[in-house]
Amino acid sequence: MSDLNHLIAEAQTDFIACDALPALENAKAKYLGKTGLLTDALKGLGKLSAEERPAAGAAINVVKQAIEQALNARREAILDAAQAQQLANESLDITLPARAQSRGGLHPVTLTLQRIEQLFHSIGFDVANGPEIETDFYNFTALNIPENHPARAMHDTFYVDESHVLRTHTSPVQVHYMQNQQPPLKIIAPGRVYRVDSDATHSPMFHQVEGLWVDEDISFANLKGVVQDFLQKFFERDDLTVRFRPSFFPFTEPSAEMDMSWNGSWLEIGGCGMVHPEVFKHVNIDSEQYRGFAFGLGVERLAMLRYGVNDLRHFFNNDLRFLQQFIK
Ligand code: DAH
Repeated sequence: MSDLNHLIAEAQTDFIACDALPALENAKAKYLGKTGLLTDALKGLGKLSAEERPAAGAAINVVKQAIEQALNARREAILDAAQAQQLANESLDITLPARAQSRGGLHPVTLTLQRIEQLFHSIGFDVANGPEIETDFYNFTALNIPENHPARAMHDTFYVDESHVLRTHTSPVQVHYMQNQQPPLKIIAPGRVYRVDSDATHSPMFHQVEGLWVDEDISFANLKGVVQDFLQKFFERDDLTVRFRPSFFPFTEPSAEMDMSWNGSWLEIGGCGMVHPEVFKHVNIDSEQYRGFAFGLGVERLAMLRYGVNDLRHFFNNDLRFLQQFIK
C-alpha cells in the first residue's frame, strides 16, 4: 500500500512537469494506461486471497481517484494557461493614436478651369462641351481647314484611325454648338486637347478654353473688352491690358494673336478673331445677318502664371508634394 500512495506524489510531479496536453496524455498512460502501474496493481488483485482482496481493491481505487483528480486539475490548468496566452496575444491597445487620414484637394488645373467658368458665367457665357475623339470634319474641315491645307501640318495630330483624331483644339466645339443652336450664342468650351508634343512648355494632353459670341452686332471691340475684363479678374490686376497682333487662323478673319501685359513685358496667351464666313456656312448660319468672335486660351498657361509654376510637367507628374500646395 505504501508503494501505491507513493505513486500519487510521483504522478503529481510528472503531471506538473507537462505544459501541453499531448505530454500530459503520455504521462497519464504511465499510471492509468493499459500497461500502466495502477492497471498492473489491479491485475495483481487476482493473486490475493479472497479476504485481502476487498481492502486492497478499495485502496487501489482511492489512489486511482487521486491520480485522476491530479490529472484533471493539471489538464484544466494547461487549458486555462493556453486561453490566457491567446487573450494576451489578441489584445488590442486601444490607447494607440488612430492612423491619420490625409485630405484630398482639387487639381490646380481643375481649380483654374472652375475659376475661368465662374468668371465667364458671371458675364453671361454658358459652358459647352464636345467629344475628345473627333472626326476629321469637326476638327478640321468645318473649321475651314480642308484636306491638304498646310494648317493641318501645324497641329501635330494624334490619329485614332483614318477619319478620327484626338481633338487638337477646342474649336470643334464651336461647330457642334452652332449646328444645334441658333444665335444669339454666347459660350465658352473648356476641355482637354491633344498634340504630339512634349517638353517643359508642351504636354501631349493639355487644356484649352474656347470662347464664342455670335450675334447681329458683335465686333472686335467686344472681343477685346471681354478678354481684357476676364484677364483682369482672373489675375486680380486692374491695370492688366491686352494687345492684338495680326495673325492667321483658317477659321477666323481677321485673326489675331492676343498678348497681355505682364511685369513690364508682353506675354502671348492665345489666338482669336472674327468667325470666318466659311465656318458659318458649314453650320447654316447666315453670315450676312450674324457676326461673331472666337478665341482660344491655354489653360495651363494661365495656371502657370497665376500660381508661379515654371514647368508645365509639374501639373501631370502627380507628385503629391506639388499637388498638396493647392489644398486649401
Ligand atoms: N484653335 C486654335 C489653336 O488651338 C486657337 C484659336 C485661335 C481658337 C483663334 C480660336 C480662334 O477660337 O479664333 O491653336
